[in-house]
Amino acid sequence: MQTLNVALGDRSYPIHIGRNLLGNPQLILPYLKRKQVAIVTNTTVAPLYLQKLAQPLRDSGVSVIEVILPDGEAYKNSETLNLIYDALLQNRCERNTTLVALGGGVIGDLTGYAAATYLRGVPFIQVPTTLLAQVDSSVGGKTGINHPLGKNMIGAFYQPQVVLADIATLETLPSRELAAGLAEVIKYGLIRDIDFFEWLESNMPLLNALNTDVMSYAIYRSCQNKAEVVAVDERESGERALLNLGHTFGHAIENAMGYGVWLHGEAVAAGTMMAADLSRRMGWLTVGDVSRMAAIFKAANLPVTPPDLGAEKYLDLMGLDKKVVDGKIRLVLQQGIGKSVVTGDYDAEALNATLSMSC
Ligand SMILES: NC(=O)c1ccc[n+]([C@@H]2O[C@H](COP(=O)([O-])OP(=O)(O)OC[C@H]3O[C@@H](n4cnc5c(N)ncnc54)[C@H](O)[C@@H]3O)[C@@H](O)[C@H]2O)c1
Ligand SMILES: [Zn+2]
Repeated sequence: MQTLNVALGDRSYPIHIGRNLLGNPQLILPYLKRKQVAIVTNTTVAPLYLQKLAQPLRDSGVSVIEVILPDGEAYKNSETLNLIYDALLQNRCERNTTLVALGGGVIGDLTGYAAATYLRGVPFIQVPTTLLAQVDSSVGGKTGINHPLGKNMIGAFYQPQVVLADIATLETLPSRELAAGLAEVIKYGLIRDIDFFEWLESNMPLLNALNTDVMSYAIYRSCQNKAEVVAVDERESGERALLNLGHTFGHAIENAMGYGVWLHGEAVAAGTMMAADLSRRMGWLTVGDVSRMAAIFKAANLPVTPPDLGAEKYLDLMGLDKKVVDGKIRLVLQQGIGKSVVTGDYDAEALNATLSMSC
């Protein structure tokens, strides 16, 4: 097992990465203020992993409440959030009950937001079971739900006590979901870590095959990159926005196609190629850089061609994004592989050409 510390002062927490961590209650027990937890999961993950996590805790004298939600991004909303509150209130959960998120990013975001708001905040532990959740959503404390008018529009910053990233859970993950997580892994290389990018170029076949050592290292290095960014900018006033590479375009794709039709990571991969296309038009990336980016996404079984929505639709959808400052869309663009910048200083016509599907 490897452990990484996310350094956020008195909100610091460890991320443990390894195999078969679910069945080890010693990783959770020290954090419980009272021997009661509510494990929040969904109908897909529950039959696979709920008892693996719950039984050893029960055997250690912990009272476990199980909250099993419907599965899917479409349920990351206020109605489902209410189901968590209902279960907590029905079971008279108090301020020292710990909420445990067992699942992917949807469960992590929903449960984290429930933990941030139930009784104005209860302790929270993340047990991410998708690659995306292990390398991204479980680091940095963003929690929240979607609103019919926009994704992740309602939320809070709320840090967990500890994160258990159990690599063994990835064995049941559908291959599309694995690829979607790899999009975020590749993102860290692109925005700030060229050595990691090059390591990924060499190791993609082993990652696709879920090689334990290679996957552990990729998760560790991804979390380390994200943790470093979050440590200097917890509330996204500056550097943290770099983590949104491909996301302004990607959110437009997700939104236009309907939540869940394109997976988040798939949309991020195609969105990153749009950012690459615009960066090349600005003279900041070479054609060779763009090909290298396309090659690594393809090697990870990710899409590199965005859907043809037309420039107007893209602009409209991107205008709703949180990254708009004073009416101007700020974008994360590339100034070479391993160096992203957040900028509004790009040519509007170049953006239009990119959005018109000429990548
Ligand atoms: N909080 C953040 O910082 C942050 C960052 C990135 C993404 N997100 C959010 O994360 C969400 C996407 O997360 P995701 O990609 O994990 O999607 P997800 O939570 O929908 O999980 C994907 C699918 O895999 C299933 N699943 C989960 N673990 C499994 C396992 N081990 N075996 C088999 N099936 C499994 C899930 O039930 C679901 O059907 C989005 O809502 C996005 O907004 C949040
Ligand atoms: Zn993302």
